[in-house]
Amino acid sequence: MASRKAALLSSILIGSLFFTFTEARDIMVGGKNHSWKIPSSESDSLNKWAEASRFRVGDTLVWTYDPQKDSVLQVIKKDYETCNTSNPIAIYKDGNTKVKLDKSGPYYFISGADGHCEQGQKLITVVMSTRRQFIGISPAPSPVEFEGPAVAPTSTGGVNLRGSLGLVFGVLAGMILF
Ligand SMILES: *[C@@H]1O[C@H](CO)[C@@H](O)[C@H](O)[C@H]1NC(C)=O
Ligand SMILES: *[C@@H]1O[C@H](CO)[C@@H](O)[C@H](O)[C@H]1NC(C)=O
Repeated sequence: MASRKAALLSSILIGSLFFTFTEARDIMVGGKNHSWKIPSSESDSLNKWAEASRFRVGDTLVWTYDPQKDSVLQVIKKDYETCNTSNPIAIYKDGNTKVKLDKSGPYYFISGADGHCEQGQKLITVVMSTRRQFIGISPAPSPVEFEGPAVAPTSTGGVNLRGSLGLVFGVLAGMILF
């Protein structure tokens, strides 16, 4: 009984952690201020940075740059590849650009400044779906199979969806780990 309680407690903890980790973040492009510029070398490129970063649905990318000299264009893949600035999905030129990554999949950005994209000032971010990742790791057993005493917080009434999800994920994680 005691060990089951401990397991349940740990799973709730893991559940909360899971949601702490998936908290939406502001991510500075390039990892630091004023990184939106022509890279000095291949290893300095923004895509090198992006490959080493993880982007999740709900995160916001932040670009800082001199609005007199540069801009951020969100474009389709083909325009990204050819550095075609003539038909962007969106144009940002306020010097402090924020783009919320509101769905999973690839996002393509190029500089709107003349010749900059051709010299490597471009960025692909691939946004993971946390939900798909989680289910991918562990095919979720039906919650009905779990017969612990504290899994059904519905009796308390207004349990918010996020909390319940956290608990469910926590219990699942607990079942996998213990
Ligand atoms: C980035 O640079 C701008 C000036 O261009 C400054 O106002 C801002 O505070 C800087 N942000 C950080 C996080 O250093
Ligand atoms: C850029 O794209 C537009 C349409 O989106 C096309 O009309 C134009 O020819 C393209 N320019 C180049 C240089 O490929």
